[in-house]
Amino acid sequence: MADGASDKLFENCRFGIVVNRELPRSQALELTEVIESHSGEVADLDETFLVEEVTHIISATSDFQQYADSRQHMIPVVVPAWVTQSLLKGKEAPMRSYTPDPNNIFAGVTISCADIPTGDKDAIIGAVLAMGGMETNNLTKATTHICALTVDHPKCQSAREKNLKCMVVLPHWFDDCLKLGKRIDEKPYLLPDPEIFTLRPEADLPMQSSASIHGATTSLPESLTLSTTSPVRPLTVFKDKKVMIAGELDLSNRTLKVIEDLIVKGGGSITTSVHSADIYVCHWREGREYVFASRAGIDVGNLSWLYYLIANNEWTSPLKRLLHYPIPKEGIPGFKGLRITLSNYGGEARTYLENLVTACGAEFTKSMKQDNTHLITARNGSEKCDAAKEWGIEMVNHLWIEESYAQCTIQKLTEPKYAHFPPRTNLGEIIGRTQFESYILEEKYYPRDPTPSPGDPKPLRRPIMHEKDRNASSKKSNGDVMGGQSADVSPVKPTRKAPAPRKTKSLGSVPPQTPAAKRRASAGKENDTPISTGSRSAKNKAMSRLNEIAPDIALYEKEKKRKGSVWGGERAANNYEKQKSAERSSSPVQKNAEEEFSEDEEVEEETRNPKRQRTGLPPPTIRLLITGYKEWIGNIAKEEHDKKKMRELGILVVTDPLKCTHLAAPHIVRTQKFLCALATGPTIVNSNYIDQCTKTHKLPKVENFLLKDVESEKRFGVKLKDVIARAKTNERNLLFRVPIYCTPKIDNPGIYQSIVEANGGTFASYRGRPMIKKISAEEDDGPAEPVYLLTGEHPEERKLWPKFEEMARDGNMIPRIVPVEWLLDVAMAQQHKWSDKFLVTRK
Ligand SMILES: *[C@@H]1O[C@H](CO)[C@@H](O)[C@H](O)[C@H]1NC(C)=O
Ligand SMILES: *[C@@H]1O[C@H](CO)[C@@H](O)[C@H](O)[C@H]1NC(C)=O
Ligand SMILES: *[C@@H]1O[C@H](CO)[C@@H](O)[C@H](O)[C@H]1NC(C)=O
Ligand SMILES: *[C@@H]1O[C@H](CO)[C@@H](O)[C@H](O)[C@H]1NC(C)=O
Ligand SMILES: *[C@@H]1O[C@H](CO)[C@@H](O)[C@H](O)[C@H]1NC(C)=O
Repeated sequence: MADGASDKLFENCRFGIVVNRELPRSQALELTEVIESHSGEVADLDETFLVEEVTHIISATSDFQQYADSRQHMIPVVVPAWVTQSLLKGKEAPMRSYTPDPNNIFAGVTISCADIPTGDKDAIIGAVLAMGGMETNNLTKATTHICALTVDHPKCQSAREKNLKCMVVLPHWFDDCLKLGKRIDEKPYLLPDPEIFTLRPEADLPMQSSASIHGATTSLPESLTLSTTSPVRPLTVFKDKKVMIAGELDLSNRTLKVIEDLIVKGGGSITTSVHSADIYVCHWREGREYVFASRAGIDVGNLSWLYYLIANNEWTSPLKRLLHYPIPKEGIPGFKGLRITLSNYGGEARTYLENLVTACGAEFTKSMKQDNTHLITARNGSEKCDAAKEWGIEMVNHLWIEESYAQCTIQKLTEPKYAHFPPRTNLGEIIGRTQFESYILEEKYYPRDPTPSPGDPKPLRRPIMHEKDRNASSKKSNGDVMGGQSADVSPVKPTRKAPAPRKTKSLGSVPPQTPAAKRRASAGKENDTPISTGSRSAKNKAMSRLNEIAPDIALYEKEKKRKGSVWGGERAANNYEKQKSAERSSSPVQKNAEEEFSEDEEVEEETRNPKRQRTGLPPPTIRLLITGYKEWIGNIAKEEHDKKKMRELGILVVTDPLKCTHLAAPHIVRTQKFLCALATGPTIVNSNYIDQCTKTHKLPKVENFLLKDVESEKRFGVKLKDVIARAKTNERNLLFRVPIYCTPKIDNPGIYQSIVEANGGTFASYRGRPMIKKISAEEDDGPAEPVYLLTGEHPEERKLWPKFEEMARDGNMIPRIVPVEWLLDVAMAQQHKWSDKFLVTRK
């Protein structure tokens, strides 16, 4: 396991190890050795480390001095087994499963719900998440528990068919664990024949509350037996509190009963009237009861908050943690339509931010693609960061989303603090410290209404309390305060003055456009008619007329059908086929189920691999685009394996030609990839370079593998060295401002579009409607510039030619009607050269 590949596993990580009876010094030394041999650092074992100075804490228990601090900073605390597990997996194991926190009774549990009613499902998932577990909507290899009432659900069937080793348990198991505050054996709860039912045949209605406990005493493990006779668990946090659970949570009687039991046994009570409640638990930031409770200064939180109180038996304000407060039903204005991804945040912090993104009303995406609008990152440095810069995706730190959520208004990206990335600090350190201010919530969600309508709940009984005041009043908040419901109508002064309402609708609801999106949009504007494919003969004719140098891409379709010996045919077919199959094999469909909640750092190219690249690798030194490589054809396993090996050598195989630094090809080929990549002036190596990497596991010298292909150079009339030199000078502006149209009969216009755009030109389809503004030579302030139409020789295309020429001349432009070969030549030579021999209109 400790092969060269995982040498860098703990790079950039600094560990604090807590030495105590459970984790003796000898073991700590062993851990230190292992971590250091995988590029990690360990804080001095003899000194007390500061939470701020480490990225991970290893401890066998949660009973140590810095524990509270670590929670505050969201620094993950893991048990030693996490280190071993990470080594085994070759990547950081999910931390939530390896926490020593005894409150996290569901650590290690990954639950997937089957036939559970929605309200209960949310409640169960909420509890599992609040107590250290994870949830996956779909069944995955990581799923440990399926929560179900019967085994009929497809998920249960599928688990059995696939022989997954997850357990199918009744929801009662979660309830009972929650009640006990302990994880108990699943056995009596396992479907299809759960003992808790079989022992009491008359109690076989799953939804019947309390049957589970009482009917099953004898068969249950000791801990549960004990707990049914003694108080369930010594909760004190609800003492003398009246708790109201909103109907909207839609909890079943059974779940309600579980919560009620916990509260009642802890000296509190449940109420169904918000007027007499001290605590109001709901999901949405709206509705009469929410407004009433909020105005009356009752503590309003959501189920996560309630579970936090239960799990920690410690009072905390629901305003203190952003995710403990009910959600705005419509999200935060301005977030709808945004697609946000994360980088450099792991563990708890990551889950927290994912939830915030969703609660704001934006869409969270695990991987980053060009249509993402924002990247939230803790550091200025990761693959995603590099790609974000390249793609024009907004890059901010987590304060932006936290403060937007807390202020209930999308914050301006221009605020400097959101783009501040201290070089040696991981901002994960200061996550979760943003709190709600009640005056802001009040202004937005429960503003004072000067003329209450008759149907409104009775006015206030208590002034709004702030964290500061709460101490004193919470002691006497029961009983007497309930009294003067109608008498106490004293208007309430907000303790803090609300700021003037914001006028600026900062950023508005239109998501910022990425350059890529802009490019697409501007191309699309003129390209509003669908491009049909067809007419091969026209193209073939054009090609044969030019010469035998058929473009690999253009020839493919024909060659596939006609097994001739035209030059380029077979090879072109292979190249193209290969490219296609590579694209297929790496399509998102394949992106497999091994989804993780934690660290997931690589950009699209990597995340889409079924065998996810592990994290912690240094940024790649080479981004390699591969075209025309044969070894991987029909061998996806080898491809994945080789790519992984190469990544470990610092070579990231990319599929976006515009993102490569290096290009590997067997010869000079006229494929889409090759021609697009050429525009970026990459270093071009022979495909043997790939073989060398995978054979030797060493990074070969690029200079020894530079592509030499004199024959093709002669054929295409170029010198590769000069081409690359020109491409570097062009900086992808070879066709800058050059408009290039194509007829609707051109096959695969997307290929030509990508080549044009890689070189900075504009591309659109031409169907005979004028698209260029009329302008006379006198009005125009420059020389007439060329405008191109890519065409075949189909009669319908010919009909377009005079119209195109007319349009061009009207716009003081020079019409050039050419076959696609012109474009391929220009792109290959990286020179905007012109010769009349290309004109199809030349007779
Ligand atoms: C989950 O399963 C559904 C139906 O089988 C499928 O449509 C969906 O794409 C899956 N989601 C993920 C994230 O795999
Ligand atoms: C839940 O309890 C209420 C009142 O106790 C009862 O009316 C209702 O039928 C119960 N619902 C279910 C699904 O058992
Ligand atoms: C509580 O609210 C947060 C957002 O404020 C949300 O992410 C979380 O899922 C909610 N918890 C439950 C159990 O609904
Ligand atoms: C991130 O780092 C790059 C250099 O690596 C720098 O050009 C860029 O301005 C930095 N961005 C921010 C937001 O600090
Ligand atoms: C709350 O009361 C405790 C003692 O009862 C005190 O130590 C603490 O500072 C108070 N908190 C606030 C915010 O006033």
